Amino acid sequence: MMSSARGTEPVAFTADQLADVRNLLTCLSAARRSSQFYPPEHPAVEHAIGDLKAVVERFHDEGVEVALTFFEGDLVFGDRVMTQESILFDQLIRDVNSLGIDSLRIAPGFSTEELARAVRLLGSDTTDIAAGGGIERAIAAARLGSVRLGRVRRAEPEDDEVEITVRARRAYESAVDLVRDTDRVVRGEGTLSAGPVRAVVGELVDTVLASRGAMLELTALRDYDEYTFYHSANVAILSLAMGSIITEDQRFLSSLGTGALLHDLGKLAVEQEILNKPGALTPEEWQSMRDHPVSGARIVARVPGLDRSAAVIVLEHHVAYDGSGYPERARHTSQHLASRIVAVADAYDAMTSRRSYSAPRSPHEAMALVAASSGNSLDPTLVRLFIRMLGVYPPRSVVRLEDGRTAVVVRPGETDPLAPAVRVIAAPGGERIEPYLVDVGGSDAPKIDRCLDPASIDGEVDEYL
Ligand SMILES: [Fe+2]
Repeated sequence: MMSSARGTEPVAFTADQLADVRNLLTCLSAARRSSQFYPPEHPAVEHAIGDLKAVVERFHDEGVEVALTFFEGDLVFGDRVMTQESILFDQLIRDVNSLGIDSLRIAPGFSTEELARAVRLLGSDTTDIAAGGGIERAIAAARLGSVRLGRVRRAEPEDDEVEITVRARRAYESAVDLVRDTDRVVRGEGTLSAGPVRAVVGELVDTVLASRGAMLELTALRDYDEYTFYHSANVAILSLAMGSIITEDQRFLSSLGTGALLHDLGKLAVEQEILNKPGALTPEEWQSMRDHPVSGARIVARVPGLDRSAAVIVLEHHVAYDGSGYPERARHTSQHLASRIVAVADAYDAMTSRRSYSAPRSPHEAMALVAASSGNSLDPTLVRLFIRMLGVYPPRSVVRLEDGRTAVVVRPGETDPLAPAVRVIAAPGGERIEPYLVDVGGSDAPKIDRCLDPASIDGEVDEYL
C-alpha cells in the first residue's frame, strides 16, 4: 500500500495528473454528499457521478489506475502521499475510515452503476452498516465489480493474555530499535523516512488499545546504557496510554505516538560530553541542550509523510503548562494537548531513570513530584489522569503487603488504583522465595500496606519484572 514509504520510488505523476487528483477528490466528495441527500436516480446524483466518472476515465486514458488510500489521516494516490489534499479532505478521510474502509481502487472497465453503488456505500451511515451485518457484507452486497473498496486492516484482537504480552513486547522492542536507528540517522548515517516510524507507531497504538495494562507493564523496563532509546519508547507508551483514555481517535493517537517517540530526537545531536556531564552545564552547553526541541522539530518537519503535528509536539515538549519552559517562542501560543500529555510522561519517566547526573527516584517518589508539578509545569487534569492510570503504586514500586510479604508492582490495577498486580519476592520473615504473580485486586488477595525503599530488597528490581 505505502510502497513509497518502504523504500521503492513513487511512480512519477505529471503536474496535470497531480492537479487532477484534487479534482478527483472534489468530485468524489460531491458525489458522496449528493448520494447521501438524494435517491440514486436523482439528477443531482447522476450529474455528480458523471463528473467523477469523467475524471477517473482521464486517468485510465493515460494508463494510470485510480488507487486512493485513506490511511490514518493521510491521503495516498498510488504511491504518493498527497500532503495538501490530506488536510483539505480531512473529513472525507475520517468518514471513510470510520466505515472501516481504507482504500478505493477503480480499474479500467468499471461501469457507471458500479461507481454509483460504491459512492453510495461510502456515504452510508456507520450504524446502518453495523445493523446490516458489517462493512464486509455491505461491500459484497453492493456488487462493485471493477471498483474495489478495501477494509481497514486492524491487528486482530487476541484474547489470549500471553499473546498480548508477546505482541506488546515486540512493539516495545521495535520502538527501541527505531530510536536506535534514528540515532544513526541524526549522526549522519542514512535518512529518516516516514514508513518505519508509522509502522512502529501503528503497532504501539494498536497494542495500547488492545491492552493498556500489558504495555504499561513494559514501561518499567530500563536499560541504563541506552537510556535515551528506552526513555523514548517509555514516553511513547505512557503518552499513548494516557491519550487512549481520552480518545480512541486513530489520527490523534498516531500523531501523539510519533511526537512522543521522537520527542528527544534533537538531543541525539547534542554532544555526548554535554549529555552525560555530571556537574553543572556552562551557559553555552545549557543553550545547546535547550536547542533540542527546535532542532528535533526541524528534522521531523522535513520528513515527507510524517504527521505535521508530531513536529509541534517535539517543539513544545519542554514548554510548561504555566507558560514557562522553552523554547521561548513556543510559549506564546497555547500548548497542544498532545504536547501536554508528552510533558507529563517525559517528567515521570525521566525521574524514574538513572541518568549520569542523578540517581533514579522510586516510582512512588516520582509520582509525588509529578503531583507537585500539577498546575505549574504540568497540566493538572492530565496529572490526575496519569495518577489514576499508573495507580498509587506504579510499576517497579517495591511494596509490603498487609500480611508482611514483599512484592514488586508489575502492572497497574485495571479498575482500582490501590490494587495493582504484584510479584511476591519475599516471605513475611523477609526470606527470598521463588517469585510468583498475585493480582492484588482479587477477592482473597492481600492489600498493599506501604511502599518500601527499592534498595531494601535482596537484588535489583529489574530481576523481578
Ligand atoms: Fe527533551
